[in-house]
Amino acid sequence: MQKNKIAAIGIESSCDETAAAIVDSGKNIVAHTIYSQIPEHQKWGGVVPELAARAHVLAIDEVVQKTLADAGMTMDDIDVVAATAGPGLIGGVIVGWEFASGLAMSANKPLVAVNHLEGHALTPRLNADLEYPYLLLLASGGHSQILIVNGVGDYKLIGETLDDSAGEAFDKVAKMLKLGYPGGPAVEQCAKDGDPKAFDFPRPLCNQNNCDFSFSGIKNAARNLIDKTPNANVNDFCASFQQTVIDIIINRLTNAIKIAPDIKTLVVSGGVAANQAIRAAMERMAASNGMMFAAPPMNLCTDNGAMIAWAGIENYLAGAFILPEQAGTVAPRPRWPLAGIG
Ligand code: KG4
Ligand code: ZN
Repeated sequence: MQKNKIAAIGIESSCDETAAAIVDSGKNIVAHTIYSQIPEHQKWGGVVPELAARAHVLAIDEVVQKTLADAGMTMDDIDVVAATAGPGLIGGVIVGWEFASGLAMSANKPLVAVNHLEGHALTPRLNADLEYPYLLLLASGGHSQILIVNGVGDYKLIGETLDDSAGEAFDKVAKMLKLGYPGGPAVEQCAKDGDPKAFDFPRPLCNQNNCDFSFSGIKNAARNLIDKTPNANVNDFCASFQQTVIDIIINRLTNAIKIAPDIKTLVVSGGVAANQAIRAAMERMAASNGMMFAAPPMNLCTDNGAMIAWAGIENYLAGAFILPEQAGTVAPRPRWPLAGIG
């Protein structure tokens, strides 16, 4: 790596992935490790916070050491340490943040407390020539928001879910259909062979002139439909459910584009952005509105260390970092809004 580039190590542990990555300011992912806890949570049908925290404790040292070894680097080669400090499952967030603090202190490196949502919001810039500002749908297991991303640290929330997130809706429908956890990829797979018009789901808030979401009604409608038609074709059911989510997203984004007509780039990120049908619908929408479209590559949609390292670099370059001896001033937090409604 050339010396004029900044290298960050990013640590992510806010849900069920213990992940680390080294990324440089030239947008190279130098090394990238994800230890997924999915097998540990699968038999419970979802993430069990206590199991997740313990699994992070057991995995984190090895994940970080492996990332450094894969990069052929030591902490001497790292310029900044970044870690998720929230929002998320607090046990896991504490594990990652404390580990990162220790790493930064022992190597005497600056430290960035990254908001996990900011990691998702900025990752699309890691692989694309994406300039600010952009209109972002951030759809993950924990959040569904529409934001205007004006720059690092400058986010305007223009809509969010009033109840469940889009990812949660995928996960809950998958659980009802016994498709396993996590639900998003399984539902998408079944939907490929199904009829999107076979079942009728509600489209909450779609007649309202705002950018908010509500997914809990769809979940309840899914429960009722399954109870009423226990032998329903699973592929048709998944295709209809997925189409409903797409219709809702496009409806909400139509309002968002009206609110921010000058923004010329439409972006999706977060775990749900891994869904090809959702990406394709948003890409079509962007094209028909004369907008560019961007999304992270599939492996950077769900949680990973590279998104945290990249957010670390952007923050560091913007001067938003602390010295290692200040690590104790940051409190890991389960809730941490990226931006207020404005
Ligand atoms: O961003 P992420 O890894 O974790 C959070 O920050 O929450 O997102 C995980 C969520 C899960 O709800 C998962 O079911 C969903 O992203 N997801 C998908 C797909 N892949 C992951 N949802 C729909 N289609 C997919 N292909
Ligand atoms: Zn996430």
